[in-house]
Amino acid sequence: MNILITGATGFIGQSLVRELSRQQHGIRALSRDGSQAQKILGIPAYTWDYSTEAVPEEALKDCDVIVHLMGENLGAGRWTNERKQEIYASRIISTRKLVAAAPATLKTFVCGSAIGIYPGTGDKTYDETFVIPAQKTFMQSICADWEQEAASIESRGIRRASIRTGVVLGHGGMIKTLLPLFKLGLGGPVGSGHQWLPWIHIDDLTSVFTKAIEDTRYTGAINAVSPHPVHYHEFARALGWVLHRPTFLSTPAWLLKLMLGEAAALALNSYRIAPRRLLQEYDFKFKFTELQDALTDLFQNRSTPQ
Ligand SMILES: NC(=O)c1ccc[n+]([C@@H]2O[C@H](COP(=O)([O-])OP(=O)(O)OC[C@H]3O[C@@H](n4cnc5c(N)ncnc54)[C@H](OP(=O)(O)O)[C@@H]3O)[C@@H](O)[C@H]2O)c1
Repeated sequence: MNILITGATGFIGQSLVRELSRQQHGIRALSRDGSQAQKILGIPAYTWDYSTEAVPEEALKDCDVIVHLMGENLGAGRWTNERKQEIYASRIISTRKLVAAAPATLKTFVCGSAIGIYPGTGDKTYDETFVIPAQKTFMQSICADWEQEAASIESRGIRRASIRTGVVLGHGGMIKTLLPLFKLGLGGPVGSGHQWLPWIHIDDLTSVFTKAIEDTRYTGAINAVSPHPVHYHEFARALGWVLHRPTFLSTPAWLLKLMLGEAAALALNSYRIAPRRLLQEYDFKFKFTELQDALTDLFQNRSTPQ
């Protein structure tokens, strides 16, 4: 298949490019810097400024599938008004333009989304049957609008899957941010530590995306989280254990809010999310269902970046 990937240079995108290349698909990327992306990924890549340009036509030629992952990183600092605008527009406007530009050859549109679509409080388990309320938080608005823009492609007979991704464990994303602290023995729970962390191993997430590309049963919103979320304090203890470091120090919620403002929600919100559709509808086989096994795989079976 000819597959166009946006955000291909990112943490999830690079893993997906590796897997799809292994499967001999024809892959190309859209990036803010096509030549740099081509160097990093070793596949054809095209430059696209989503805010000022239409999608480059050559990127879409004979394209069967689009996987849309790009977006301003939510965890890269405080959510100033400008960053909030960019976090929103880089996902929603880009989706709108990709949908409008979809070529006649396109059969499938797989789009990013996140567990931030759920309320983010308490111990209640949420799955894809959750009805999104009219009154939304910032993260809920982004995810809901992102999914709505993506869903508009269905009116043209193109299959769409929006992958509601949890916290991805691999050598990137949240772990990359936390690793320096934990390696110094300064890691530990944040806030009360009782908030739920809906984790997924990068290999399992890559499989979910691969299945969503190939398997026509994958449609609509799909939670991509492991079946066993943990409390944040359990996660901190498990990460300390695989790194052989203590995790006594906790970071109080007020300090995190002082440092990160509204973005502290990324660490303090509680998401107890179930992968209902993956398990019940698609019989998806997770490689990692237990956190300890996932972290052991990442830090003891594979080389850890320094
Ligand atoms: N990692 C997670 O735990 C997680 C969890 C839930 C949802 N997600 C979602 O999944 C998607 C991919 O995640 P990721 O962790 O792979 O992200 P990432 O590592 O931050 O990569 C995102 C890519 O998007 C492009 N990008 C960044 N800022 C942009 C901007 N302002 N405008 C246009 N393009 C921009 C970049 O590609 P170029 O530099 O090549 O343009 C970048 O490589 C994101 O939308 C993210 O919100 C991730």
